[in-house]
Amino acid sequence: MPIRILPSQLIYQIASGEVIDRPYSIVKELLENAIDAQASSIWMMLHNGGESYISVKDNGTGMCLEDIELAVKHHTTSKLTADNLENIQTLGFRGEALPSISFVSRMSITSKCKEDEWGWFVQFEDQSIASFKPSICTTGTHVEVRDLFYKTPNRLKFLKTPEWEFQGILNTFKRLTMAYPSIAFNLNNDKKTIINFLAASFEDRIADVLGEAFKDNSLMIEERRGYIRLKGFISLPSFTQSTANFQYLFVNGRPINNKLLSSAIRVAYEGLLFRNRYPMLALFLDIPGEYVDINIHPKKYEVRFKEAEFVKETIKNILKETLTKTRFAVSTSFGEETFSSFDSGDFSGIVPFSKKNLREEFRRKNKGHLSLNESLDISYRQYPLGQAIGQIYNTYIISEGEEKFFIIDQHAAHERILYEEIKESLKGRGLKITPLNPPLNFKFDPAKRFDVLLKYQKELKLFGLNINFKDYPQFLRVEGIPEILGEINVESLLSDLVEEIIEFGEPLRLNEHVHQLCSTLSCHLSIRGGEKLSLQELNKLLREIEGVNYSGQCNHGRPTYLSLRKRDLEKIFRRNT
Ligand SMILES: Nc1ncnc2c1ncn2[C@@H]1O[C@H](COP(=O)(O)OP(=O)(O)OP(=O)(O)O)[C@@H](O)[C@H]1O
Ligand SMILES: [Mg+2]
Repeated sequence: MPIRILPSQLIYQIASGEVIDRPYSIVKELLENAIDAQASSIWMMLHNGGESYISVKDNGTGMCLEDIELAVKHHTTSKLTADNLENIQTLGFRGEALPSISFVSRMSITSKCKEDEWGWFVQFEDQSIASFKPSICTTGTHVEVRDLFYKTPNRLKFLKTPEWEFQGILNTFKRLTMAYPSIAFNLNNDKKTIINFLAASFEDRIADVLGEAFKDNSLMIEERRGYIRLKGFISLPSFTQSTANFQYLFVNGRPINNKLLSSAIRVAYEGLLFRNRYPMLALFLDIPGEYVDINIHPKKYEVRFKEAEFVKETIKNILKETLTKTRFAVSTSFGEETFSSFDSGDFSGIVPFSKKNLREEFRRKNKGHLSLNESLDISYRQYPLGQAIGQIYNTYIISEGEEKFFIIDQHAAHERILYEEIKESLKGRGLKITPLNPPLNFKFDPAKRFDVLLKYQKELKLFGLNINFKDYPQFLRVEGIPEILGEINVESLLSDLVEEIIEFGEPLRLNEHVHQLCSTLSCHLSIRGGEKLSLQELNKLLREIEGVNYSGQCNHGRPTYLSLRKRDLEKIFRRNT
């Protein structure tokens, strides 16, 4: 077929389809324009999930008549001052949003700039002015969008229910409100006020959007490392959600999705979460323009970092360090979430390991203390987890501190101790390797990209995977696999690893296998609930917990202990009135 130049209408249809696909993309573009116009208040109004009406009004700089006319032309923007895409300080930069919106809907703009005495109301039809008239209004801009996709019924058919579309809008709206706490936001849907946020501090806006419970159960981050500034809140590992949808990431004030950052978060929380639970967080990364490319996605939802590994490592380290501070922190809300975590602790189906009986070792180490004559000569009351005074149901330790008392789940606590111990020993020597006799040969197939493993040969060996690259580039030879993995499909493990390395730049999956194995091991070797322990053993266990990282929760994310302050106890029994 001969090549032909497409008619301009079709070109615009393709371009606008990339920018605007659902009501929420219109909302995103209009809110971003209002924010870029330095508004201090933004009002949004919707009908029918945005399908029949979206309006965004701001009190920003406004536009004069000539600018309104120019604004809906393609590739017209006031935001790119230099002729390159470096150092962009605004959310918009392409000059594509308004023309795209006006192409797929009936759009009008009422706007007044501060120099003019009155403003203008301009109605657009097919990206050109259909009518205009003077308007008495205050400085700012009001964009109204009606009859979305009326020209492209096919696209209209793809819209879901108004409630579904509204959820998308709400999510987009909330995300932007988090990044701009000094702006007041109001959202009205079908004549009902849904959100009314006054200008607030960063902390208060986060609590407005994500709830007081999140604020109470999260850790604040404010760090600068090299050219990276990271600020925000991350939830305690015991305060989690069933999906990763509550992880809000921002780069230079722009809400984004980014696999690299998601993977940094995953690695930072590794070993702290209950299965299939995800932390909640709002993280704001500020990074100079020359180190980040924001022009890689038509909707500006993705970014690319120039030094991706450095960014990922830095974020992971900051998060890890912050989480280490949770040594004695557990979630304060014991609502549905925590209780459901307790309920779902089902470890059936996991193969028990009996390599080395750590439980016996724990007992042996504490032999000197194993006395049934229950009296302690030292007081541990001033210790962080206080002095054990007994067990209930042979499962929970009751312990008394100076100002608080504690209930500790002995199994969960011991599990955390062992998990950290096993992990530590892995760090030193690496995992034991089962030699493969004969070795498995894999032909180099460029499509499979096994060559990327070459760079990680040393790390892979630490995890027990012994690969010989002597016959590179014809063959790679797997000579040994991690002993604890048992029988595995080596080729699919290699493919998974290649995929992980290409995507995240490190053999993460193997890492996760190992985490899973450490968990399994520690769970099966630790003291069970229902086991009677002496007072000395209980106190010894508490002292060990105090010494390990992340002791607020076991490696499945369940809390290891609860505490209640003496004065709260007094309040409950009304002893202080
Ligand atoms: N709410 C507003 N207040 C003041 N000026 C506005 C407003 N909305 C749009 N403009 C002006 O119209 C121009 C075009 O807007 P448009 O959204 O199409 O492009 P952009 O924001 O420059 O880039 P992008 O396509 O990335 O959003 C903007 O550069 C700005 O000058
Ligand atoms: Mg814009």
